[in-house]
Amino acid sequence: MSSRLGVLLSGRGSNFLAIAKTIESGALDATISIVVSNREDAPGIDRARDLGLAVAVVPHRAFATRLEHEQRITEVLRDARVEIVVLAGYMRKLETTLLEAFPAKILNIHPSLLPAFPGVDAQRQALEHGVKVTGCTVHIVDESLDGGPIVVQRAVPVLDDDTVETLSARILVEEHIAYVEALRLVTKGVRIVGRRVTPLS
Ligand code: GRF
Repeated sequence: MSSRLGVLLSGRGSNFLAIAKTIESGALDATISIVVSNREDAPGIDRARDLGLAVAVVPHRAFATRLEHEQRITEVLRDARVEIVVLAGYMRKLETTLLEAFPAKILNIHPSLLPAFPGVDAQRQALEHGVKVTGCTVHIVDESLDGGPIVVQRAVPVLDDDTVETLSARILVEEHIAYVEALRLVTKGVRIVGRRVTPLS
């Protein structure tokens, strides 16, 4: 049975599109059950509509508290019978509701080799720190900021003449590969011991 994914995004949606295209090509056994955005103007939500996928816009401004917003998102995901939640450029910090509803079943992608450079502007942080190698990380989401168990990492070199834009573009190519790879692992089943994530078979 192919796993039912729920994608949460706030912006461009290139990771979502990479996943959608891989599923369409038959190279990833999963179904995107719903794409949810907290922003009506997120380009990613238009791409999801173009693909004929179920979409839901749940604007955070329509809710009095962060918690109520997240409760609504949780309901939307449950109604769509989502099994794995894919954060793909979702720019809201999670409360406990979603974490409790989908324990160890929420993935996020971050544009650095965690635990280096968590939080915003990871590519700028890497450049300013002067690292020679950076990359991206797909991890299981827990209550920490970008600190959950790591599923997949991919590295890229930092070049002497890099800007935030050129470095981000190089990382993004790897993000698309890493997210698909991580979903392949997680949909087949992983064992999580401490912080270590390994394939079940
Ligand atoms: C990516 O750089 C991802 O690592 C970060 O947000 C960005 C989302 O890009 N969490 P996109 O919307 O998937 O194109």
